[in-house]
Amino acid sequence: MSTGPVTTLAAEQHSNFRPPQLAVIVPSYNERDNIELLYEKVALALGGTPWEMIVVDDDSPDGTADLVNELSRVYANIRCLRRFGRRGLASACVEGMAVTSAPYVAVIDGDLQHDEAILPTMLEKALAGADLVVGSRFTDGGSAGEGLSQTRLSGSNFANKLAGMIAGQAVSDPMSGFFLIRRDAALKAAPKLASDGFKILIDLIVTSARMGQPLKVAEVGYTFRPRHAGESKMSPLVVIQYLGLWFSKLTNGALPPSFLLFGLVGGTGVVVHLVTLAALTALGQGFLVSQITATLLAMGWNFVLNNNLTYADRKLRGRRLVTGFISFCAICALGGIANISVANAIYQWDHQTFVAGLSGAIMSSVFNYAVTRAFTWK
Ligand code: GDD
Ligand code: MN
Repeated sequence: MSTGPVTTLAAEQHSNFRPPQLAVIVPSYNERDNIELLYEKVALALGGTPWEMIVVDDDSPDGTADLVNELSRVYANIRCLRRFGRRGLASACVEGMAVTSAPYVAVIDGDLQHDEAILPTMLEKALAGADLVVGSRFTDGGSAGEGLSQTRLSGSNFANKLAGMIAGQAVSDPMSGFFLIRRDAALKAAPKLASDGFKILIDLIVTSARMGQPLKVAEVGYTFRPRHAGESKMSPLVVIQYLGLWFSKLTNGALPPSFLLFGLVGGTGVVVHLVTLAALTALGQGFLVSQITATLLAMGWNFVLNNNLTYADRKLRGRRLVTGFISFCAICALGGIANISVANAIYQWDHQTFVAGLSGAIMSSVFNYAVTRAFTWK
């Protein structure tokens, strides 16, 4: 690095500057009433360690980002990365990790459910050689406490079992949203992570292992606390996204996580189509009119569901909703042609109606998925 006059001046102005050893990444959506207290608690826990807090906020309507910017004018080591038109916990964590120079990064929820007091122990374990240190509710000294309802606890147990099948090593709390990792290790895996959903930890573990660089994991127990203010963003969508991720890992990445969701949506579209067709013909409409109406309705249904579920993290709005719908219909029409051509070719060759029909349907699903992903929800 140069040591010219500007560098010397900068060094004088920053004589107290100590680069952060640890970046604490806080994904946030509507956490305005929690962040300041979280900052204070983390500051207390980390004491003399040079650290910084990066809040990655998806333009929360409650003004979380404005509050963090106000805090940045009081404390030098907190800042906000504000994202527009996007949602997603996992991608928020990765982008937070990408904007720090700290060699270690921790991810902690913004709602005070995680016990920040164990951060120094987590850092010690990393300095002692672990690549990844998981804050665990299910190991010695840990407990799910009152932070999880009975339903959430059973769901969590089930999710843990599934995770155990793909993790490749024993991790007591693979669903944890609280962990510390070497930044280099995380960023190496980052380009291959599924960007949607909540489950970044299990994704980091599995992806690193599949890249031939399994993470050396350590754990520290803690008691999961009830949320401080506001509401959880856990939803059925998060569960489906996790199942998509799990399938994708199980098939060694052959099926992208969103393909499962796209397929499920397509399945409901078929039901909408058939019900409409039956209803209209029963009401005395001719077949052609009924079939055209059913097709349009099912396409609209599929588009709305995909936009809100499969592609919730890159949802189209306003004018892009209209152009998106037009491109979706055009692509599905091409998919229909592909379907019929493939099915017909197979039928000519072997006269197996079912096999031919199924091949055509699979062909058009894959086509529709791949092409709408590239053009409609790019
Ligand atoms: N930027 C961003 N974008 N942040 C988000 C989003 C989003 O779309 N959704 C949620 N978050 C933030 C929340 O604001 C919070 O700080 C953190 O991510 C966790 O979200 P919660 O809504 O509090 O999730 P939870 O408590 O139900 O689930 C937590 O515990 C689970 C284990 O029981 C999370 O840590 C999960 O990852 C974890 O599996
Ligand atoms: Mn929470």
